[in-house]
Amino acid sequence: MTARERIAGNVAGYVDDRTGAAKWMKKNLTKVFPDHWSFLLGEICLYSFVILLLSGTFLTFWFDPSMKEVVYDGSYEPLKGLEMSAAYASTLDISFEVRGGLLMRQIHHWAALIFMVGIVVHLLRVYFTGAFRKPREFNWIIGVGLLTLGIVEGFLGYSLPDDLLSGTGIRIAEAIIQALPVVGSYLAFFAFGGAFPGEAFIPRIYTVHVLLLPGIFLALITVHLMLVWYQKHTQFPGPGRTEKNVVGYPLMPVYMAKAGGFFFIVFGVTAFLGAVASINPIWLYGPYTPGQISAGSQPDWYMGWLDGLVRMAPPLETHAFGYTISWNILIPGLILPGIMFTGLALYPFIESWATGDKREHHLLDRPRNAPNRTAIGAMALTFTLVSLLNGGNDIIATTFDLTINQMMWFSRIGVIVLPPIAFVVTKRLCLSLQRADRDLVLHGRETGRLVRMPSGEFVEVHEPISPEKAWLLTSHEQLAPLELPEHDSAGVRRPGAIKNKIRNRISRANAVAVPKATATERRELEGHH
Ligand code: HEM
Repeated sequence: MTARERIAGNVAGYVDDRTGAAKWMKKNLTKVFPDHWSFLLGEICLYSFVILLLSGTFLTFWFDPSMKEVVYDGSYEPLKGLEMSAAYASTLDISFEVRGGLLMRQIHHWAALIFMVGIVVHLLRVYFTGAFRKPREFNWIIGVGLLTLGIVEGFLGYSLPDDLLSGTGIRIAEAIIQALPVVGSYLAFFAFGGAFPGEAFIPRIYTVHVLLLPGIFLALITVHLMLVWYQKHTQFPGPGRTEKNVVGYPLMPVYMAKAGGFFFIVFGVTAFLGAVASINPIWLYGPYTPGQISAGSQPDWYMGWLDGLVRMAPPLETHAFGYTISWNILIPGLILPGIMFTGLALYPFIESWATGDKREHHLLDRPRNAPNRTAIGAMALTFTLVSLLNGGNDIIATTFDLTINQMMWFSRIGVIVLPPIAFVVTKRLCLSLQRADRDLVLHGRETGRLVRMPSGEFVEVHEPISPEKAWLLTSHEQLAPLELPEHDSAGVRRPGAIKNKIRNRISRANAVAVPKATATERRELEGHH
């Protein structure tokens, strides 16, 4: 035994004597994780969250969350002598006076953007592969909570500097609160501590941004990861992989090394972007004044769809009993997002209700083998993307020489017409891919080699695929549609018949599939190749 091993052993023994950690560590450090690049997406979220905590802590040392009026006297000449809030002035100071301050601000902002990209792409991976199915529904709901909190946290973050852009965003948030029927005005007064913009809002959202939400994040992420640990990770289908095992590498040393390395890659990319790519240059926007707005104001990308929905809303208002209901804000700002997020959170339950499948699933689906789910995802994505595009309607209009009206009408019509088209096209694509899989299993791979037969006919030589590949393409399950009874034996409608009818219909649509190649079909065709 070398000296180093002896010292390490002594330290480990010392800790184990006092905590009994060795048994627990031995069990958990050898835990096996499946290997797939898409399982790293959750890690990107995790690492950017760590970067956010570290860089954010640095910023708190100098940021002054106060609306106190000060006269700017820093080194950025164009703003010298201007009256502004201490919040804005201190953000300018972090950018121009504090050593490394601008880099840290930019790292913090880039990390927030990457965090949100990570969350959304991770969510898409979980959705399109069906990883949310039993027993992982709770983790899916926690995930939807994290996504919602991420959007709010990011919005509050870029609202803090009290520059012209952030003030404009807060004004929209105030309008959305005010749009709530009956209680809206009171709530807005309550949140802002009086009339807009007031002196209270920035200090309040600061506490929420640096204390309350990060605390909730920490708690939720911990539970999220504990559940992944306890329920074990899903895996893609493949030879040797079943619903009952996990095929992969142990946590220690393989994943420890991979995860450690991956943290530094995420950190490196974020630091690189922070160093070379300017983000949120608040000194160009100027301090917030309620009477002004700069041309081309854009929220961060994860708020863009909401802004886009508000921008495309027609001017609908109802006046009743002395109240004004602003449908133009209420629908895009509260009702639609409410439906979207509730639908997202409930999706696992809706799907299992529609298919009648209440079993546990640890093997993932290939998106083509769940055409309805994939098509619903494409539909939701199309809706969100059209809204997001409209969030940049002014920039797109000036860049491509269009008018705002053209953009607005494109999105108003597109947001209704394009999602159903996306649904139909995606479902057809999935079924075509299933057909291609079936052909591949039955007829093998096209080799591109043409052979002339004695009869003069040209045929392309097909090569059989490997048994592993054939297994992969045929191992999935094809669910039969539900056939819930609508009538009793005497032909009389049963109670709940309508519900059963709807369920049968949805389940029939869900079960549409190209029958996968069977072993008998394969054997029968073998003679032909
Ligand atoms: C702060 C944000 C988040 C963090 C830090 C995070 C982290 C992770 C990590 C590290 C994993 C294991 C590796 C992987 O499968 O990628 C995971 C799995 C999972 N996440 Fe997240 N996640 C976040 C947000 C979300 C969201 C928004 C959803 C969905 C709405 C979600 C749903 C899930 C599910 C269902 C699993 C289990 C997947 C499986 O076993 O295949 N997570 N998460």
